[in-house]
Amino acid sequence: MDGLLVVNGFLKSRKFDEIYMWLGSAFEKRGHGIRVCNNIELSLTSEDISADFVIFWDKDIVLARRLEAMGLRLFNTSRAIELCDNKALTYTALYGKLPMPRTIAAPMTYRNIGYSDTAFVYDAIEILGIPLVIKECFGSFGAQVYLAETAEQAEKIIKNTSEPLILQEFISESRGRDIRLNVVGGEVIASMLRYNDNDFRANITNGGKMQNYTPTSEEKDIAVKACKELGLDFGGVDILFSDRGPLLCEVNSNAHFKNIYDCTGINAAEYICEYVEKCVK
Ligand SMILES: Nc1ncnc2c1ncn2[C@@H]1O[C@H](COP(=O)(O)OP(=O)(O)O)[C@@H](O)[C@H]1O
Ligand SMILES: [Mg+2]
Repeated sequence: MDGLLVVNGFLKSRKFDEIYMWLGSAFEKRGHGIRVCNNIELSLTSEDISADFVIFWDKDIVLARRLEAMGLRLFNTSRAIELCDNKALTYTALYGKLPMPRTIAAPMTYRNIGYSDTAFVYDAIEILGIPLVIKECFGSFGAQVYLAETAEQAEKIIKNTSEPLILQEFISESRGRDIRLNVVGGEVIASMLRYNDNDFRANITNGGKMQNYTPTSEEKDIAVKACKELGLDFGGVDILFSDRGPLLCEVNSNAHFKNIYDCTGINAAEYICEYVEKCVK
């Protein structure tokens, strides 16, 4: 097979280069050709592109749609990436299907206006309680996830942004702890527990530590079902611990797999390659 690995041309960091290298070498090792292209060059290409498969390791949904319109099979698909990239869309796609923390998608505002009326925050707190988790819909590595200990803090966070947001009940039993399950082709291939004693967010990039973890069948079912409902070929699912059982936290379409490799010795890129082979045959 000959494929394309699509990456973002503006995002330049060792962490991302490493992922691209791992993906590339997993395919090459199994005898496939894989060409790395970035979204800048592809956006400007007017010719039709041919490839047996496309590993779309980017979030440029418009480009992804264009490639799909040319008849290319993207892993993951543009729709699945779109649903995962936006935490409000993930929540609404999974609502009623999976256990999740109680969540309110903030009413939409305009970028140049922001949340000029913040009264809704107080109403949301009546429903969700305090502390309140506030997340920018488009964020990763825990960097755009905030914990407001008071209603005033919540209001201040909202006043200072015009980003789309979700507001969420704080699951105190899971403070600084969660699990990450990597799913490929409908199966959990690797899992780890992440913990941080100094922060409510368990992300490794934010200083969290990791350890091997064997998920329960309930946790595995949540991860597999989340990926199925979102149409993901592969993904990284974050799950919180709670008194009412495991709760789905979020789903990543482009889950980094270096940390989980360091923790478990499992290389998700190899599973992705084997899965793509099965689909493309
Ligand atoms: N509702 C919540 N209650 C408690 N902790 C949470 C909640 N939501 C998120 N967290 C913590 O914050 C981390 C980051 O949130 P997440 O939604 O996964 O965003 P990101 O895309 O930045 O990783 C999670 O891994 C978890 O440790
Ligand atoms: Mg996360």
